[in-house]
Amino acid sequence: MLMSDSPVIEAIYGRRSVRQFLDGAVARDSVMEALKAACWAPSGLNNQPWRFAIIWDSESKNALGALTRYSETIKTAAVLVVVFLDRDASYERTKDCQAIGACVQNLLLSLHAMDLGAVWLGEILKNGERVVELLKLPDRLELMAVVAVGLPAHRNQKSHRRPVEELIVLEK
Ligand SMILES: Cc1cc2nc3c(=O)[nH]c(=O)nc-3n(C[C@H](O)[C@H](O)[C@H](O)COP(=O)(O)O)c2cc1C
Repeated sequence: MLMSDSPVIEAIYGRRSVRQFLDGAVARDSVMEALKAACWAPSGLNNQPWRFAIIWDSESKNALGALTRYSETIKTAAVLVVVFLDRDASYERTKDCQAIGACVQNLLLSLHAMDLGAVWLGEILKNGERVVELLKLPDRLELMAVVAVGLPAHRNQKSHRRPVEELIVLEK
């Protein structure tokens, strides 16, 4: 099989951040399926330090929206997946954060594979403790990301990447 025919490669190149959503429901089963795939990310010692809150209700979405510049995206998303590091499950912070990054990327690619739109929101991390309080969650949880999910309003989002040749700092 040519690499370009691989669904994994298609998803990596085809996925774009989606910040505008149509009205319309997202099935809970789809979210659960994407989260299951997200959890197959690698983690150091397989410690699986990620935890998730799934937010459907408008009241909570509006309150979370007030904690970030990206309130429109948050408020119009069908559902938010709020991703935390569980400090009690942590063994080495840098490695745990790397694992959670891999988990969020799996989540985004899985949602893309289901034709759902999503964006990784990090700007809200400046209010991480307030997010934990607002959701009445224990303070062993540290906010890592909010993933806004919905039906994509359009698919013409453009993005770019620097040529990989510019990014290689050593080859010998
Ligand atoms: C750690 C992290 C934080 C991000 N935070 C935000 C954010 O707060 N708001 C937003 O609109 N996009 C956010 N993004 C999405 C990036 O802007 C986006 O991935 C980048 O511009 C590349 O575009 P693409 O995902 O469409 O390829 C974030 C992405 C990452 C990995």
